[in-house]
Amino acid sequence: MKKQILTLAVVAVAGFGAFVAPVNAAGTAVELPKRDWSFDGALGTYDRNQLQRGFQVYKEVCAACHGLDRVFYRNLTALGYNEEQIKTIASEYSVVDGPDDEGEMFDRPARPSDRFVGPYPNIQAARSVNNGAYPPDLSLIAKSRAGGADYIAALLTGYEQAPADVEVMAGMHWNKYFNGHQIAMAAPLTDGQVSYADETPTTVDQMAQDVAAFLTWAAEPHMEVRKRMGVKVLIFLSIFAFIMYRVKRKIWRDVH
Ligand code: HEC
Repeated sequence: MKKQILTLAVVAVAGFGAFVAPVNAAGTAVELPKRDWSFDGALGTYDRNQLQRGFQVYKEVCAACHGLDRVFYRNLTALGYNEEQIKTIASEYSVVDGPDDEGEMFDRPARPSDRFVGPYPNIQAARSVNNGAYPPDLSLIAKSRAGGADYIAALLTGYEQAPADVEVMAGMHWNKYFNGHQIAMAAPLTDGQVSYADETPTTVDQMAQDVAAFLTWAAEPHMEVRKRMGVKVLIFLSIFAFIMYRVKRKIWRDVH
């Protein structure tokens, strides 16, 4: 019986390990380069300029294939855009609305209250133009992949020549950090692909870092509030503990 429990425990631990560690086809863990993020640590915050740059990369590059369905245009106020700017950004997209008085659906420019308009009408349409692969919605990708922002930045900069002894399948690309290494997404970034208003040089590495920060914000827009609340709670708890300690001392003062 004891032996069975022990075996079960070992299997459970091994299974959990396999689940949390990103592994490649050979079964060895991929070491992700750890980058510095403004939002690291208990007091970290988002860098608004970086988020705006990352949004630009998403809009001009990634949005051709990836949706951002859980984000509304109005949420962009958090990046420092004003209402007019957001109206302009939204109006560049077109959404299907209706039915009108004649029962017809119609297209209209998106409004700040709309969700980000995705690139494809449905999953089948997405697969048919991407060699059968589905470009996932990026709203929660930073939360759903181990390594979060580090993983996204690594993936975007991880395209390499495949090792000589490996045959890359048709329509696939070799990426050092992708699980199994063969990914249907071609390297989406090239140096100088976008031009930033703040004149930050647009190297692949810089754009990868910026868009990874933007996608982290998209997945966790309330991170700063959460962290601030955590600090307040800790301060409250330490004061409370101190008061309770004094109260206890007072109540038990005469008991020897
Ligand atoms: C030409 C279309 C295209 C563009 C442009 C594109 N992607 Fe992709 N992307 C894909 C496809 C297709 C997949 C699915 C790959 C697979 O499963 O093999 C994918 C997968 C991904 C994944 C998921 C990887 C995983 O771990 O499953 C991430 C993250 C991603 N893309 C980020 C981006 C970012 C960020 C950009 C913009 C810089 C971008 N993509 C631009 C087509 C594209």
